[in-house]
Amino acid sequence: MAIGALLQPWSLLGFLAALMALWWACRVLESTLIVPRRLGRALQSQGLRGTTYRFPFGDLKELARLAMAARAKPMPLSHDITPRVNRLYYNVIREHGKISVTWLGPTPRVIVNDPKLVREIMANKFGHFQKRKHTGIVRRLSNGLVNHEGEKWAAHRKIVNPAFHLEKLNVRTYSYIWRLQLQLQLHMIDLRVLVDMVNFFRFLPTQLNRRIKANARELQALLRGIVSKRERAMKEGRANNDDLLGLMMESNIAETKQAGNSKPIMTMDDIIGELKLFYFAGMDTTAVLLTWTMVLLSVHPEWQHRAREEVQSVLGDNQPDLDGIQQLKIVSTRSPACALLCSHDFSRKWKSDTVVSVLVWSLQVTMILYEVLRLYPPVVQLDRQTYKEVELGGVTYPPGVLLSLPIVFIHHDKDVWGEDADEFRPERFKDGISRASKDSPAFFPFGWGPRICVGQSFALVEAKMALSSILQHFSFGLSQSYTHAPFPVSTLQPEHGAHIMLKKL
Ligand code: HEM
Repeated sequence: MAIGALLQPWSLLGFLAALMALWWACRVLESTLIVPRRLGRALQSQGLRGTTYRFPFGDLKELARLAMAARAKPMPLSHDITPRVNRLYYNVIREHGKISVTWLGPTPRVIVNDPKLVREIMANKFGHFQKRKHTGIVRRLSNGLVNHEGEKWAAHRKIVNPAFHLEKLNVRTYSYIWRLQLQLQLHMIDLRVLVDMVNFFRFLPTQLNRRIKANARELQALLRGIVSKRERAMKEGRANNDDLLGLMMESNIAETKQAGNSKPIMTMDDIIGELKLFYFAGMDTTAVLLTWTMVLLSVHPEWQHRAREEVQSVLGDNQPDLDGIQQLKIVSTRSPACALLCSHDFSRKWKSDTVVSVLVWSLQVTMILYEVLRLYPPVVQLDRQTYKEVELGGVTYPPGVLLSLPIVFIHHDKDVWGEDADEFRPERFKDGISRASKDSPAFFPFGWGPRICVGQSFALVEAKMALSSILQHFSFGLSQSYTHAPFPVSTLQPEHGAHIMLKKL
C-alpha cells in the first residue's frame, strides 16, 4: 500500500524534490562547514595563525564593521594610512604576524605580507596560482586580459603587448582612445560605483539593473561600431594604425597569420572586451594617481617647487621644440587626466590643442610619482588562489586557498622601507626602484612578473604629461575644506574628494 502511494506521480515528484533538497543541503554544509574546517586545520597544523572560521560569513561581518568605523571619521594628515585602508588586515597582521589567515566567507584568505613571497607567487611560481574568479557585472564590464588564464591569456597578452610599445604608439593619438573612454565614462559612471553592491542582486529586475543592462548594450553597440569602422578602413588601406586600437588589431592580424589560423585569434567580442578593460584598468587608476600626487605636492610644497623647477628648466614657457631633445615625448594636453583634474574654466590654455613635451625620464617627477604610488597605490591589494597543492615559504597550501597580496601594507612596512616608511621621501627612489627598499624589489603598484600591468608605461607618460602641464601653469595647495580620508572603493580614493586651490602662475 505504502509503495503504491509512493508510485503516484505527485508523490514521486515530491520524493525527488526532497532528495534534491537533501543533496543541496549536503553540498552547502560541505562547502560552508566541512571544507573550511579541513582547510583551516591544514593551515593551522603548519604553524599559520589567524582568525577562526565563523559559520558561514567568516570575517566578512567584522570586515564590514571595521570598514564602517574607519569611514566614520577622517584621519590626521599623515601617510600612515593602512589602519584606515583595511583595519581588519591591520589588526590581524599585528596580532598574528605577516603571514596570517583570515576568512572570506567560507574560504581561507591568507595575507601574504612579505615581498619575497609576493615575488614567488607573481613570478617564480607563475602558473602555480590562478587569479580569483569574478562573476556577474565585474566580469561583464572588464572581460579582457586581466581575467583570462592559461593559453587564452598568453595569446591575448602577446597581441596586446605591442600596442603599448611607446616607440610605435603615436602618443598624440592616445587621445583618440581616451576621448572614446570619456564618452564611455558617461555611460558607465553609475555602474562603477555600484559594481560590488549590484553584483549580488544582479538577477532582480530592478530599475537600476534594467538601466545597467541598457547601458551595457549601448556601450557594446558603440564599441562594435568603432571596431567595425576601423576594420573597414584597414581593409581599404586608409587607416592610420598608430593608436591603441589600430596597433592591437594589426598585431591580431600578424599573430593570426603567424599561427596559420583561418579565423582571427581575437574575435570582435575579444577586442571589445579589451577596450572596455583599458577603460576600467587604466582610467581610474591613472586619475587617482594624479589626484594623490596633487594632494601630496600640496602637503609638501618643497617638492612641488623642485618638480616645477625641473619641468620649467626643460620646457620653459615656450612651445617646446618637438624634434629637438631625444628624451622628450610628445603628448597632447587634451588628456582625460587633465580634464578630470582641471575643470574647463581654470585656464583657456587648457582648452587649446597645445602640444607639450614631457621629460619621460625626468628625475624629480619620476621620483615623486613613484613615492605617491608607494604610499597611495591605486590598487591596494591583489588576490591569487591555489588550484592544486603548492609549497610557498615552507607551507604547503591545499587547493582552494585565497592568497591576498596586500600591496599597500608591503609599501608601508618599516622592516622593508625603514623607519621613515610612512613619510613622503621621493629621494628614496633616486637610485631606482631596486635600491629604494631593503628587501628588494618591494614596490608593486603595477603588479609583478608576467602579468605585470600592460599599461604601466602608458600610465606613467600620461601622469608625467598631466603633472608637468599643471606645474607649468599653476601653483597649488590644499583647500581648508580638504579632509584626509583615503579609502579603497575599486581603487584607493580620497573619500571626500581632493579639494585643491590652484593659482595661475
Ligand atoms: C597608475 C595606473 C595603473 C595602475 C596602478 C595599474 C595597476 C595594475 C595592476 C596592479 C595590475 C596587475 C593585476 C594582477 O596581477 O592581478 C594591472 C594589470 C593590468 N593593467 Fe594596469 N594599472 C594602471 C594603468 C593601466 C592602464 C593605463 C592600462 C591600459 C590602458 C592598464 C591595463 C592593464 C591590463 C590590461 C592589465 C592586465 C594584465 C594581464 O593580466 O596580463 N593599466 N594593472
